[in-house]
Amino acid sequence: MEAIRLDYGNFMAPRLPGGIDPSVLSARLASAFETALSAVSAWRDKGELGFLDLPYATDGAEGVTELADRFGQSFDDVVVLGIGGSGLGAIALRDALLGPLWNQRSAGEREQFPRLHVLDNPDPHTFRRLMKQIDPARALFNVVSKSGATAETMAQYLVVRERLDELVGPDEARSHLLFTTDSTSGALRRIGVADGIAMLPVPDNVGGRFSVLSPVGLLPAAMCGADIGALLSGAAEMESRCRSHTLNSNPGGMLACLLHHADTGQGRPIHVMMPYADRLRSTALWFQQLWAESLGKSTKLSGEEKPTGPTPLAALGATDQHSLLQLLMEGPDDKVVLFIGVDDPEASVLIPGRHSEIDALSYLGGHSLGELLAAERAATAEALRRAGRPNATIHLPAVNAQALGQLIMLLQIATVLAGSLYGVDPMNQPGVELGKQLTYGLMGRSGVPAPEIAEADPRWVL
Ligand code: PA5
Repeated sequence: MEAIRLDYGNFMAPRLPGGIDPSVLSARLASAFETALSAVSAWRDKGELGFLDLPYATDGAEGVTELADRFGQSFDDVVVLGIGGSGLGAIALRDALLGPLWNQRSAGEREQFPRLHVLDNPDPHTFRRLMKQIDPARALFNVVSKSGATAETMAQYLVVRERLDELVGPDEARSHLLFTTDSTSGALRRIGVADGIAMLPVPDNVGGRFSVLSPVGLLPAAMCGADIGALLSGAAEMESRCRSHTLNSNPGGMLACLLHHADTGQGRPIHVMMPYADRLRSTALWFQQLWAESLGKSTKLSGEEKPTGPTPLAALGATDQHSLLQLLMEGPDDKVVLFIGVDDPEASVLIPGRHSEIDALSYLGGHSLGELLAAERAATAEALRRAGRPNATIHLPAVNAQALGQLIMLLQIATVLAGSLYGVDPMNQPGVELGKQLTYGLMGRSGVPAPEIAEADPRWVL
């Protein structure tokens, strides 16, 4: 298997003006890494990091493959209803492995595999449009919610269930539903058991944003013909690389230490992920949630609550060179950039040598679009380096299932190690709860008091 590579040379002095001194890396950061790795091993031993075992959970993957095969290519559309960690992973896998234009391809081009939609936001406009665009009687609705209670997902499920009942009748409706939810508890599981609906489990010890390699992400990908075996073997490969106790040979540890140091040691809390491939744009959005929800926490330091955590930002090269790059180059020096480059530049689209008399165009002829994209990434990284702005590049040999599996596992492991470096629990999200409770109250959920929402004050409204 071709390994993905983390090139962090543009973080290091003297290559990067004002960069990290190699002695700091081999002493201070290496020692922080050792402590973090022990903490993560202890969490793992307590059974809290189930995502690390997913690449080896053959029964989970077999369950997914069996269901995907059973449903076969009998549906035109698969619609995932799920939000946050229950939606972003499926979008990332779809876009990376099938391409962002998968749903626009003809059935023949898709080899009769279904289109794949993810309804995460309960925006009535999107919901209505999609339900008009597809034939719900030819669709499978995969309701994904670990808790089985998330308002956005449950509300959309209720509307879908009603539509299906009207359209195909209550009996047939059940065969258009598949629930991915907690293996023992929650409202969705109760409904699934009572109504005999097909279900897949989200393992107990796998949290939402770490669940992409569980049935949460695997089922939708497998339904569309993605190679989930290769995805998992890539993840296993990275999981084993990241067991190393030597910082220099542990890419997850290195990434965590560099980004944590950038924030807490150098005043650079904004971490930009910028893949140079449309297919990886959604992976950057998935990472944005992983990094933000896992690390943005309140910590208790010497008895006092202190807000902590970096701010991730998803970008896309080369598009955002024309949007964010000016800020990254000359704006406040509070950012680091993590590029994702694809080594195989794909020479599939060649630029023809026309207008040889015009200098502004003639140099492009004979190159490919892939080469141009790769050159732009290398040039941007170099420009940032010359400006003293730290950046690193994760090199993927190609955008394929094995490389993506490695990338996903690398970023998840870096996240839990960073959690330990920041002194937070990367697996929880207590800050999300208050908003959820207030929503329940506003929507009249029994047992939750209706909250008082501060009224708009006319003095402060224009
Ligand atoms: O990462 C998380 O835990 C969250 O983003 C959840 O995935 C999200 O809130 C959806 O939760 P659930 O799967 O319970 O519907």
